[in-house]
Amino acid sequence: MSNMPRILISFSSKTHGTAEIATWIADTLRSRNCEVILQEAGKTPDLPEHDVAIIGSALYSGRWQRHPVRLLRQMVKIAAPQAVWLFHSGPLGDENAHQPMPLPKNVRVLADQLQLQDVATFGGRLPEKAPGLLRLLIRRASKPGDWRDPQQVTAWAHKIADTVTSPTPHTNGQQAS
Ligand SMILES: Cc1cc2nc3c(=O)[nH]c(=O)nc-3n(C[C@H](O)[C@H](O)[C@H](O)COP(=O)(O)O)c2cc1C
Repeated sequence: MSNMPRILISFSSKTHGTAEIATWIADTLRSRNCEVILQEAGKTPDLPEHDVAIIGSALYSGRWQRHPVRLLRQMVKIAAPQAVWLFHSGPLGDENAHQPMPLPKNVRVLADQLQLQDVATFGGRLPEKAPGLLRLLIRRASKPGDWRDPQQVTAWAHKIADTVTSPTPHTNGQQAS
């Protein structure tokens, strides 16, 4: 891998909390001289060329959003050889926000096929306002608040930068913990 890896960050977000996490990751990696392609999953038909992929989703009802799952499926299909890192955002409330959440089963199956070990869990944000049906669901879900931790996110991104810019080749970035 060259000194300046091309990193795809693909995320899915309904109320922008996860989208913002993706920008924190992007900013950190750019500050480490990585070339970053930041995309909302499903917004472009083609998979851009990249050396490393970071794929993330907001959690809703224990599930990942559809588009990042599709992207992983596509990667399995083309037997993408590059390193892939996963994150999800969701847990709300002081007690839960730092609890690692397991991957939903359908995502776990794909992660196994790509030989990925783990997923980073980041606390979520429940906004006061949201459009349409989501507003009703949010009222039932929990109290609004923001349990995202930018420091946790940027530390994770730095770990990825350490791995991908190190001279030793890694086939699977997730193995370092
Ligand atoms: C209807 C609803 C269901 C949710 N289900 C889960 C869940 O199963 N697990 C979880 O960790 N968070 C869950 N959350 C919290 C969201 O994942 C959290 O608000 C997240 O930050 C939203 O991300 P987004 O702003 O990118 O859409 C739920 C939120 C709502 C409104």
